[in-house]
Amino acid sequence: MAYGKNIDRIFYGGDYNPEQWPQEVWEEDIRFMKKAHINLVTLNTFSWAALQPSEDSYCFEKLDKIMDFVRKSGLKVCMATSTGAHPAWMAKRHPDILRTDINGIKRKFGGRHNSCPNSPTYRKYAAKLAGKLAKRYKDYENIVAWHVSNELGGECYCENCEQAFRKWLKRRFGTVEEMNRVFYTTFWGHTFYDWDEVVLPNLQSEHFLVDGEDRTMFQGISLEYRRFMSESILECFRLEYQEIKKEMPDIPVTTNLMGFYKPLDYQKWAEDMDFISWDSYPEPGDTPAETALQHDLMRGIKKQESFVLMEQTPSVTNWQSYNRLKRPGDMRLFSYQAAAHGADAIQFFQIRRSIGACEKFHGAVIDHAGRDDTRVFREVEQLGRELEQLGDVFLEGRTPAEMAILFDWDNWWALEYSAGPSIRMKYLDAVRDYYTAAYEFNVPVDIIGTEDEFDFYKVIIAPLLYMTKPGVDKRIRKFVKDGGIFVTTYFSGIVDEHDLVIQGGYPGKLRDILGIWVEENDALSEGEENSFVYKGNRYPAGLLCDLMHPEGAEVLSAYEKDFYQGMPVITKNRLGRGCAYYVGTRSNSEFYYKFMEDIFTEAKITEIMVTSKGVEAAIRVTDGREVLFLLNYNKESERITLNDDYRDLLDGKEYQTGNSIEIGGRGVYVLLKQERK
Ligand code: GLA
Ligand code: ZN
Repeated sequence: MAYGKNIDRIFYGGDYNPEQWPQEVWEEDIRFMKKAHINLVTLNTFSWAALQPSEDSYCFEKLDKIMDFVRKSGLKVCMATSTGAHPAWMAKRHPDILRTDINGIKRKFGGRHNSCPNSPTYRKYAAKLAGKLAKRYKDYENIVAWHVSNELGGECYCENCEQAFRKWLKRRFGTVEEMNRVFYTTFWGHTFYDWDEVVLPNLQSEHFLVDGEDRTMFQGISLEYRRFMSESILECFRLEYQEIKKEMPDIPVTTNLMGFYKPLDYQKWAEDMDFISWDSYPEPGDTPAETALQHDLMRGIKKQESFVLMEQTPSVTNWQSYNRLKRPGDMRLFSYQAAAHGADAIQFFQIRRSIGACEKFHGAVIDHAGRDDTRVFREVEQLGRELEQLGDVFLEGRTPAEMAILFDWDNWWALEYSAGPSIRMKYLDAVRDYYTAAYEFNVPVDIIGTEDEFDFYKVIIAPLLYMTKPGVDKRIRKFVKDGGIFVTTYFSGIVDEHDLVIQGGYPGKLRDILGIWVEENDALSEGEENSFVYKGNRYPAGLLCDLMHPEGAEVLSAYEKDFYQGMPVITKNRLGRGCAYYVGTRSNSEFYYKFMEDIFTEAKITEIMVTSKGVEAAIRVTDGREVLFLLNYNKESERITLNDDYRDLLDGKEYQTGNSIEIGGRGVYVLLKQERK
């Protein structure tokens, strides 16, 4: 539902900071926004110090003016609570609000996202401010959503957090003995006799750095700290949420997430958020598949509901080493990609460029020149016109995916804390291997959590499912028995939810499903390779080679070299009406492409349509309407043959099945499928 029901057009706008400007400029801004067909602004993102000048005084006069002005101008508001950066006086007076970093160094006032999530001062005043704002502005009917804080995240290692962590452990484990078991403290004689002996895991205690990467000597406690931190910050979100809901129970509340953001378990967060919004800032080397994957992740955390693209830059960022401009057409192309993957609103950071501090060279709708004939403004204006024209045609539309990739934050944390077998083993790499292949086929994918519904899908892929949480094996077994195709990879099924190894042979509880026993894992160094032949072609085996024995599974391919030459590398096990594949190594994109092609054939999954490389086809379906997005990421134009009848929603042209259309470089088509006569 994102910004609510009965909305007649996709919302378009962005972060707007009139508090940085004199009032004359506001008038000018509105003229620009109208011209660009902008209808929504996110207000009040960083104004805590202005709103609360001291312990017990609040000052809303300026915000009142802004709110009245914005309402009078006919703009909708996504109302932020300003708690993403605390006031200087608060830090001075209540140092408990300051964070302590992983080195154990207490920070001074400065920056943002700088409050300790377990600070009583922070919790009290953040919630209070959210409540006061909601009370004051509850009659502003143009507020369509609340936006708690900003990009909540980070971590803290202060004494407050340490004490809260001990309480958390007590709640989680009940007895010190159980905690000792879970943390495996018989190792190196780390046995605790009292909760008070537990210190939080950081670089002063269990952690150390390898090539700048954070590692730990005790995965159990470090994993638990991750869970605790994610939950502590979520609790801060909840406190503000509740205050807002007291005043405005019907208005949805969100906060802007960050895609694959490791510190926060967004699958847990989503339960507490009314809708998902996120900030997409692809880095120069990112492929379109990477951005698509993150949209799919964000859609997936809240049961595939549509989301809001809360921020993207219209042109450039300021915080990368080399801040490359988005090329002409890129912003429009990536905005439609977001829409194609589930976005119901397209928003920018920011409307007007600041003149001071670190974001003065960050892109904005209105540039320092203050003109409406810049390249960027014209592109923003064109997209605004189009979105207005598209109305509500794809709003709340769903992605009809028959394949899912299992993604799990606990697994991510545990896997990458693991000492051995390989420092190069990265969860997201394994996820991308499979996702990218599906993406290139134009097969839609849902990214789901271990507790989500499995039955919707014909194929579920669980790359690097190192951790099997309680009940997951049962759900996978049932999925396969009922006819599903399950795929997992090297180093899966190894540990339980506490990172304790499941005994009796890898892949633990998945053994019978896969019909194999993995005896050893060989980590190859960079550049080292084994190989295997799959369906007549030779592919490399790198990173990790699992040495396995079939226990009922059919061997599809074997290693060609080394002492494990001839041992299986890919297996297939039939179980009930379905089957389970194990891919015991990491290979290259050609392999994943071929492998996924075979899986799709077996599962009878067909692509949305066949396109040339670099052209994406994606659909959203709503109330029986099907909207097809064709997105060309190439510089050159491409020809595409349509396999249905369509009407172009932007220029009204009609096309019949078999027609071929030319899509320009960086071009987009938004087509409505026509009823067959
Ligand atoms: C983040 C923040 C914004 C802004 C942008 C700049 O997404 O939420 O406040 O700093 O980055 O890219
Ligand atoms: Zn803290």
